[in-house]
Amino acid sequence: MTKLCCGLDFGTTNSSVAVSDGTRTWVLELDETNSPSTSLPSLLYITREGEEIIGRPAANAFIERNVDREVLTERVSLDITIEGYVGAEPDKSESYRPPDLSLPQLTEAVHATATVEVNSPGRLFQSLKTFLRNRAFRGTEVFGHNYQIEALTAMILKRMKDAVDKVAGEPVTKAVFGRPVRFSDNRKEDELAERRLRVAAGLAGFEEVVFFYEPVAACVEYAVTTQRKQRLMVVDIGGGTCDVCVMEFGSAYGTMERLAESKILAVSGVAVAGDAIDRAIVRGKLFPLFGSQSRYGPSNLPVPQFLFNTILDWQNLYKLNTEETINWLIAMEVSSTQPEAIRALRCLIQRNFGYPLVREVEAAKKRLSFEPETLIDLHYEAIQITERLEREEFRHLIDRTLRKMLVSIEEAETKAGLTPGDIDCVLTTGGTSLIPAVQQMLVDRYGEDRIRHRDTFTSVATGLAIVAQYS
Ligand SMILES: Nc1ncnc2c1ncn2[C@@H]1O[C@H](COP(=O)(O)OP(=O)(O)OP(=O)(O)O)[C@@H](O)[C@H]1O
Ligand SMILES: [Mg+2]
Repeated sequence: MTKLCCGLDFGTTNSSVAVSDGTRTWVLELDETNSPSTSLPSLLYITREGEEIIGRPAANAFIERNVDREVLTERVSLDITIEGYVGAEPDKSESYRPPDLSLPQLTEAVHATATVEVNSPGRLFQSLKTFLRNRAFRGTEVFGHNYQIEALTAMILKRMKDAVDKVAGEPVTKAVFGRPVRFSDNRKEDELAERRLRVAAGLAGFEEVVFFYEPVAACVEYAVTTQRKQRLMVVDIGGGTCDVCVMEFGSAYGTMERLAESKILAVSGVAVAGDAIDRAIVRGKLFPLFGSQSRYGPSNLPVPQFLFNTILDWQNLYKLNTEETINWLIAMEVSSTQPEAIRALRCLIQRNFGYPLVREVEAAKKRLSFEPETLIDLHYEAIQITERLEREEFRHLIDRTLRKMLVSIEEAETKAGLTPGDIDCVLTTGGTSLIPAVQQMLVDRYGEDRIRHRDTFTSVATGLAIVAQYS
C-alpha cells in the first residue's frame, strides 16, 4: 500500500487533517456530528470519571450536564497551616516602641481554606491553541489530576491521528503541522507555543513533525490548481489569528516543479480574529444588559468591572460563584439603579450560563454574515435578553479589530515590496473571512475581481498534505 503523507491543521476553533497518496489529496472525516464533518471543533470535555469527549459532542456534553444545575460549593481545608502574628491596629502614637522580639510573640495558626465546587460533572476546554503561548498557563487540575497544556492538546491531536492511522492502515508517525505566522507578537511566547505544540504532537504519536506557516499552506493548495505565473496573497482569518502571506509562482509544468520554483515574498500575522470579535460583541452589546453601567449603594458606586471581564473568561466564571460574591450581588441588587440587570448577572454566575452566552453571540455573528440584522436571544430564568444587532453597528463594534487585520495585510505588502496593484489574486480562507465587513475591506483595497474564497475550513490542511507529499 502507498504510504500516506499527512498535513494537520490544529485550529483555535476547528481542526482538520488531510492526507495525500501522491495522486490525490483529501481531507478526512473527523466528527460526524459536526457540519462539515471534515472539521473537528477544537473542544475537549473531561468528565469527573476521566472520560475525554472531543469535538461537537464535548460542547453538547457540557450544555447537557453543566448548565442550569445547582452548583454546590464547599469550604475545604487546603491542609496548610499558616503561623502568623495576630493582626492589630498599628500603633502610631509617640509612645510606640518596636516589640522586643526576644520575648514570645502572640501568634495564631490559620488553616488555609478555599471555596471549591463539589458537584461539577466535568470541565470544558475551548481555544486551547491560544493558551499554548501563555507562559502563566502550564496546565490545570481537573478532579484531582494535573493536566499539562501539552497533554490537553494531545487529546485533540490523538483523535486526528487515529483517523489518519485508520485510512493508512498503519501508524503514521510523520506529519506537516500548520502554525500561525505569529502565535504571539512576543518572540519568547511564540517559541514557547511552537515548542508546546511539538510536545503535544509527540504525545499524540507524531514522532517527526515539520512546522509550516498556515497561510503559505493555503496558498499552495490554490497554486497547484493553476499553471500561471502569478503573485498571490492569502488572508486566512480564523478564531485566534489573522495570517497573511504573499507568494510568487511560476508557470513550470508539474506540481513538483511549480512548488520548487515558488517563492515566499512575505508573511505577517496578528493574534486577533473570531474570538476577539465575539468578545467585542459581548462587551459592546451585553455588558450593559448585565449592569456594567449601573451604580449602587448610598455613594452611588460603579459596579466593579472585573465581574464583567469574567463573563468574557467564561471558562472561569464558576469561580465567582462563592457565597460571598452572591450575597454581595443580592445586596447590590436592592440599591442598584438597574436591579434587573444585576439580577441577570447573578443568575449568569450562579447558574453557569457563560458558555451558552458566548455560543449565542458567536451564532448571531455568523448569522450576520448572511442577514442584514439579527437578534441575540438569551432566555434563561432571570436573563431575558432580546437584543437587535445590525451589520452597521456590528462593523462599528469590530472597527479596531478590522484595523489590526488591515495593518497586518499592509505589513505583508510592504515586506514584499509590492503595492496592491502588484497582487494578481487575493485568496481568503478561515471562518472570520466570511464576515461582509472583512470582505469589504479587501474589496476596497484589491477590487472584487481579484478576490477568491477558498474552502473556509480545509484549505490549510489540504495545502499541508501537499507540502508533506513534495517535501
Ligand atoms: N459564517 C461566519 N461568519 C462569521 N464568522 C464565522 C463564520 N463561520 C465561522 N466563523 C468564525 O470563524 C472562526 C473559526 O474559523 P476557523 O475554523 O477558520 O478558525 P481556526 O482555523 O480554528 O483558527 P486559527 O486558524 O485562528 O487557529 C470562529 O471565530 C467562528 O466564529
Ligand atoms: Mg485556521
